[in-house]
Amino acid sequence: MILAELQKNFEAFGQDHVFKFWDELNELEKAEFLEVLASIDLKEVERIFKQIQEVKDYSSMSLDVAPVYPLSENVNDDSRAINHGKKLLQEKKVACFVVAGGQGSRLGFEGPKGAFSVGLDSGKSLFALQADQIIEAAEEYDYEIPWYVMTSKVNHIETVNFFQDNDYFGLKKDQVFFFSQEMLPAVDHQGKLILSGKNKLFLSPNGHGGSLLALKKSGALEDMKKRGIEYISYYQVDNILINIFDPKFIGFHVLENADMSFKMVKKRNAEEKVGVVAVNNGKMEVIEYSDLPDAEMHAVGENNNLKFWSGSIAIHMFSLRFIEEITEGEFSLPYHKAEKSIPEINDEGNVVSSDKKNGIKFETFVFDAIGFTSNVFLMEVAREDEFAPVKNKAGEDSPETAKEAFLKKGKIT
Ligand code: UTP
Repeated sequence: MILAELQKNFEAFGQDHVFKFWDELNELEKAEFLEVLASIDLKEVERIFKQIQEVKDYSSMSLDVAPVYPLSENVNDDSRAINHGKKLLQEKKVACFVVAGGQGSRLGFEGPKGAFSVGLDSGKSLFALQADQIIEAAEEYDYEIPWYVMTSKVNHIETVNFFQDNDYFGLKKDQVFFFSQEMLPAVDHQGKLILSGKNKLFLSPNGHGGSLLALKKSGALEDMKKRGIEYISYYQVDNILINIFDPKFIGFHVLENADMSFKMVKKRNAEEKVGVVAVNNGKMEVIEYSDLPDAEMHAVGENNNLKFWSGSIAIHMFSLRFIEEITEGEFSLPYHKAEKSIPEINDEGNVVSSDKKNGIKFETFVFDAIGFTSNVFLMEVAREDEFAPVKNKAGEDSPETAKEAFLKKGKIT
């Protein structure tokens, strides 16, 4: 697209401020900027901005709590699931998939979060700890378990380099499949695109929900099929207690004929900031803590316990067949708004950062795939065994709390 045409288009969408510093750019900068601008679907940006304003009001809806298989419900059922999970692993049908495309802005670590070490004596990074589990499971179940690693433009090269510099942590190179998710522009509270340099539009990864289409577009699904994979163990890069190959979870997922499964933990209190799983008008839905009406949040259910007593910890099993089906034709997940502080250029052409949440990133969330399922399985796990994420520099969910949880579990790596 030629410049004049592009400018006209940006003007039509009220976004022509992005050309503010155009005359100050050299030819190379102009060419690079033009390429980025031409790739932006302004109509889609407008649509998403409108969509995220429409907050769903759950207060008038009648919500039920989705059934969760509780900790140690039934020893016989448990052992049946464990045996089945082991069998599926022995049949080499399970792959693992980590989403590691986020910007890790709260942690403020320079580099991919998976390269971060919480300060164990071994100095091992999160990726290295995960590789240890994969190697151990590969020995136990006797196959080269493939590891799918989703990055984004913000950290792809650094992530691949980190693996290379560490000799793939002992894994075979072709056991690891890297691919990137897509990026989207962020906007300010008026829906205007944000310039984070004179020729730089601020772009961010499209949320972990972007992983489903990225699996398809990158050829990862095809690769899985070639390897005979049928089930995917999905997790987030920053949970130091992740149990990647949990035969009980894998077994139940398949025995229950689920498209997608969730691990849940007992909420610390009614207000804990975790999503809950509800049945709304016969359909399962994940409701974020911020959208759950106050009355529901504090509602009391059976045995005088909280009605919504458990929260999702972003650990899932997926059936490959399910991801293939939903990504077949037109597929999209709803966008959520993530309000963030974003570096922005001021009128004088200087890039300024502040703590103020001046921008909105558009993100899709993988748990919304629940809307496409026919069958879901939810399983309670103990928080102290399975969930200690590294999110913040200090305080709650920090390297310090993650390390403590890791050591408390008796892990000594
Ligand atoms: P978070 O939402 O906690 O984001 O991601 P983050 O990037 O780690 O940290 P902040 O919010 O910038 O501080 C949870 C998981 O989802 C992945 C992250 O890498 C992490 O494993 N993720 C998040 C993606 O893979 N892509 C995204 O677009 C967003």
